[in-house]
Amino acid sequence: SSPFGFDFVIVGATGDLTMRKLLPAFYERFRGDQIDGTTKIIGTARSPLSSEEYRTKAAEALKAFVAAETYDASKAEAFLRLLHYVPLDMTEQNADWSALSSLLKTEKGRPRVFYLATAPKLYVPTADAIAHNSLITDTTRIVLEKPIGTDLASATAINDGVGQHFRENQIFRIDHYLGKQTVQNILALRFANPIIERIWNADSIAHVQITASETVGVGQRGSYYDTAGALRDMVQNHLLQVLSFVAMEPPTAIAPTVLRDEKLKILRALRPMTDDMIRTDTVRAQYAAGEVDGTTVGSYLDDLEDGESTTETYLAIRAEIRTARWAGVPFYIRTGKRLAQKETTVIVQFRPQPWAIFPDKPEPGRLVIRIQPNEGISLSLSSKDPSTEQFCLREASLDVSYEKAFNTRYPDSYEDLLMAAVRGDQVSFIRRDEVEASWHWVEPILNGWAANIRPLETYPAGSRGPKSADDLLARNDFVWKELT
Ligand code: BG6
Repeated sequence: SSPFGFDFVIVGATGDLTMRKLLPAFYERFRGDQIDGTTKIIGTARSPLSSEEYRTKAAEALKAFVAAETYDASKAEAFLRLLHYVPLDMTEQNADWSALSSLLKTEKGRPRVFYLATAPKLYVPTADAIAHNSLITDTTRIVLEKPIGTDLASATAINDGVGQHFRENQIFRIDHYLGKQTVQNILALRFANPIIERIWNADSIAHVQITASETVGVGQRGSYYDTAGALRDMVQNHLLQVLSFVAMEPPTAIAPTVLRDEKLKILRALRPMTDDMIRTDTVRAQYAAGEVDGTTVGSYLDDLEDGESTTETYLAIRAEIRTARWAGVPFYIRTGKRLAQKETTVIVQFRPQPWAIFPDKPEPGRLVIRIQPNEGISLSLSSKDPSTEQFCLREASLDVSYEKAFNTRYPDSYEDLLMAAVRGDQVSFIRRDEVEASWHWVEPILNGWAANIRPLETYPAGSRGPKSADDLLARNDFVWKELT
């Protein structure tokens, strides 16, 4: 597409997300000729910086966070000229907003985006102040980072408050997992390949495992993370979105309304978790000290400033989707920090052969979707072992590595999502009712855990998590499949 111009206001422009993700993403798209020279990327925050000082900070961020293969000093220089900075507390509607408003172009049809990279409790006051200062045009959009609230009530309050000033089609709730090429590819895999979609149901599939394991601990983010935990941080948004891509019925088009309608149906079809299910079908745990990649690391409590907490850094949940397609097929979700490896995968385990004609019992096949790293898919098949005379079976895989197949750079998820917000394309953003349906399912688990219905366990840093997560699957004769 040819380059075009827009005004993009980043609220919280000195923060980590802006420096690590947003500016590098815009740089890539500028380098790819999608952004023209009239574009203004306007940072705001409370620090009293000049635009020149902000550009210096941004220049360092680009050097640090843009991949070496795509960093080009003269391109970076040209890109930095698009940046401006206005010191302004955007929750203060009566502050002096003139410096900001005079930077914004008023020509009809020009996209204007406010990107809120701040704490969720500031979303409503910021939206109020933007409206009070009359900065909302027909082509103005607001982007909200996750988390949208901490429970259903606070999410509803944010949605109501922002909805006072912006129509739903102007509100872009970002979930960076939806910007991942491999997550988007789940739709292509299922709906562009009839051989896959024909077996994508309870007749052929025994269960599904969705894993997002990380080696990092909470690092400097303890004060946020300790109020969130793995359920709010990863499941309410990212992993339920992945689950709905895996489980949804085919939408009639890849278009915002119909696609999000289908995701919503899945979120609403999740079987509500009763106290009994929370006791037997969930596991929650926190990392203890241990060793990650050969380095000794402290416990979660060591990482917190005030070392008391029952926040989970790991969880495993057995979920059920009450639809005709998925009756009797458990969906297992697990995620955690300080685990043995960084790996996000969806594993679809097929049902075994009903009647064995071989001396060995064949392994029922499975499809592995590698969301990251080593992006790709593999299908494991039982094959005759050529080194034996009898019909001995061994597993072998059909494997596609996307990097090899497409021989192209993997864009960061923010690149796609930022440009989609500018264009006004909502297909990869979360609609209000999806956020609320997710909270609706998650909230009883939060409450059950707060009431200690399922006690908190610990696991050593660098391990595969607590053993109870294995027991959760063993009950149905299943096992978690690790890739490495
Ligand atoms: C973020 C969470 O939304 O996603 C982090 O707040 C987590 O805690 C991150 O580390 C994981 O993202 P990715 O893209 O590395 O899987």
